[in-house]
Amino acid sequence: KVAEGLKDYTTFPIGTAINIKILMNDAELQKTQKQNFNSITATNDMKMQSIIPTENNYNWKTVDTILNYAETHNQRLFGHNLIWHSSTPEWVIAKAEKDSLWLDSFMKEYITRYVGRYKGKVAAWDVVNEAFESKGGAYRETIWYNKLGKRYIADAFRYAHEADPDAVLFYNDFNIERDTLKLNAMLKIVEEFKAEGVPISGIGFQMHIRMDIPDETIAYALKKAAATGLQIHLSEVDIIFNKHDDTKEGGVETYSTITDEMKKAQGEKYKKLVLMYREIVPKKQQYGITFWDFTDRDTWIRGFFNIQDWPSLYDDNLQPKPAYFGFKEGL
Ligand code: XIL
Repeated sequence: KVAEGLKDYTTFPIGTAINIKILMNDAELQKTQKQNFNSITATNDMKMQSIIPTENNYNWKTVDTILNYAETHNQRLFGHNLIWHSSTPEWVIAKAEKDSLWLDSFMKEYITRYVGRYKGKVAAWDVVNEAFESKGGAYRETIWYNKLGKRYIADAFRYAHEADPDAVLFYNDFNIERDTLKLNAMLKIVEEFKAEGVPISGIGFQMHIRMDIPDETIAYALKKAAATGLQIHLSEVDIIFNKHDDTKEGGVETYSTITDEMKKAQGEKYKKLVLMYREIVPKKQQYGITFWDFTDRDTWIRGFFNIQDWPSLYDDNLQPKPAYFGFKEGL
């Protein structure tokens, strides 16, 4: 009998994002992954940069590997993501600069081929990721926005829905749990889409949070988002200690070691988060909670922001932290 893990304590899926190469080459990590999670997201392997790194060169191999893993171990495969400025390959940007019409047809072809190929296999997609600025609610001036205007967002959802009418389609972003202006900007397009029949089915809160983001602030945002009636996915959960502003430009680092007290407080914060999710989001809208990496050893936070931190459920030696037990208590 397989030992029980997080997934066995709840009705909604518990997921983790993970680097597929690392997962495939690490038996211990795999064991823990299978034990705890019934949903899987690729940290990078399903992004545009990985799928079509150069022109006409679609690369499905890694996606097929992830899909096979997900199917073999009864996990839901979550597609992250279709359109994201940060993973738009250089060759796409260069071509789009010269020819906006081309970008339009490329977006359609890309989404149609990709979503169509994995129709019925990838349960859900982050269709558009981070279309708004980090703070404040203005549209992010990406190549997509600059060349196609804001309608690219609705178009992306339409193309994805045509390719797989059963896939659950999300808009995904960060800081919406703490920045009311940004939250409102996102909710405005969600309401517009609903009114116009644009096939959006869910909101993804990345939920890359810090210990000092007030629970009440998060609760307020979840409540407003849940009121749309859409699926709510906590899609990239981690909790850092450092007072870092979540942009690559950086912020202030204030912790360089983790104490037992900090570990305990983090456990409480994880517990509170899952309790809020369960209390505020109606059951039928609970699409699940996904962690962005589940070990401090593999967390993206350290490399990406160049800070020392301990945001995950498991520590550097793949041992469960108070974060793990706190989260589990909240389930
Ligand atoms: C991150 C990956 O984890 C890193 O390995 C990569 O260098 C950059 O992207 N928001 C998202 C994710 O939507 O795709 C990002 O993933 C983390 C922030």
